[in-house]
Amino acid sequence: MGKETPNENLTPVTAASLSKKHILGIENMPILEINALLERANYFANQPKATFSTILANYTVLNIFFENSTRTRVSFELAAKRLGASLLNISISGSSVKKGETLIDTATTLNAMRPDILVVRHHSSGAPLLLSQHVDAAVINAGDGRHEHPTQALLDALTIKRTLGRIAGLKIAICGDINNSRVARSNMYLLSALGADVRFVSPSTLVSPFFSDIGIPVFTDMEEGIAGCEIVMMLRLQTERMEGREAPSQREYFQLFGLDSYKLQKAAPDALIMHPGPMNRGVEIDSKIADDNNKSLISTQVELGVATRMACLEAIAGVKL
Ligand code: NCD
Repeated sequence: MGKETPNENLTPVTAASLSKKHILGIENMPILEINALLERANYFANQPKATFSTILANYTVLNIFFENSTRTRVSFELAAKRLGASLLNISISGSSVKKGETLIDTATTLNAMRPDILVVRHHSSGAPLLLSQHVDAAVINAGDGRHEHPTQALLDALTIKRTLGRIAGLKIAICGDINNSRVARSNMYLLSALGADVRFVSPSTLVSPFFSDIGIPVFTDMEEGIAGCEIVMMLRLQTERMEGREAPSQREYFQLFGLDSYKLQKAAPDALIMHPGPMNRGVEIDSKIADDNNKSLISTQVELGVATRMACLEAIAGVKL
C-alpha cells in the first residue's frame, strides 16, 4: 500500500519485555507492554528478513490449530523461522483430538515433548488459558472462539500506526458480526487503550448490549456509524459460530451493512479500509473497495503480521529464560 510511511527506527529497539509468560489476550495487557511489542514489531518490519535468525535458536514452537487458518498459521510459522526456531505444525484432523481426546489430555501429551512455545487456535473461548494451566510451555492465543485474537489486534494497530503515524484521536469503525468476532474484541481493547475513538457498527442481532454497557458506541445504521471515520474495519459474518438466524440473507446484509463506494462516501475523505481476512466479497465488502490500493490496508495487515508475531515470540521467550 503506497501510503505506508515506515517510521524508521535508527537505534535498535530492544525486545519487548512482558510480565507474564503467556499472551492470552489484550484485555489485561499493560499499555507499556503493548507499546513495547508494537515498537519492536515496527523495528522488525523495517529490517531485512534474515537479520535475526539466531534469536530463537534452540526454541521449539508448536502451532496447534484446532480451527482452520491460513494467514495466522503461516504468519506464525514465518515469524518463528525468521527468528531461527524449530517449528512444527500440528494438524488436528490427523491428531488424537478427532478420536475424542480431551484438551487436557492433548496438553499433557504435547507437554511431554517439551516444546517452548505453543501457538494455539481453538473454537472454544478460554481454551488457550486452560492449556496454559496444564503445560510448561508459554502459550500464545492465536484466536479462541469469540473471545480474543491478541496478535491480530497488535498487527492491526501496527498497520494503522505505520500508515497514519498515530492512533490516538482517530475515529475507527469496526463493522459487521461483532458478537462472533474475537478480532472486534481484541481491537476494541487495544485501539481504545491507545486513545482511538472506537465504535461498532452492526445489525442489532449481531451485537450484544454488553458493548454499549461498557461504553463503546454502537450503531445499527452503517452510514451513521462510519460517518467521519478515518478507518473502517470490516468483519466477516462468522456463520460457523452462529446458533440461529442472527444474520439476514447475504444479499440483504450486503445492502444494509456491506461496504461499497456509496456508503464509504460518508466516512472521512481519505478513509482507509481494513479486514482481518478471510473476506467474503459481495457480502461484507465490495470487491472494488477491497482491491483499491489507495484505500485498502488489507495486504499491509497480512505483511505486518509476521513482524508482529516475531515481536511476540521473542518477548515470550524472554520471559521463559
Ligand atoms: C479472523 C479469525 O480467525 O478470527 N481471521 C484471522 O485470524 N485473520 C477473522 C475471521 O475468521 O473472520
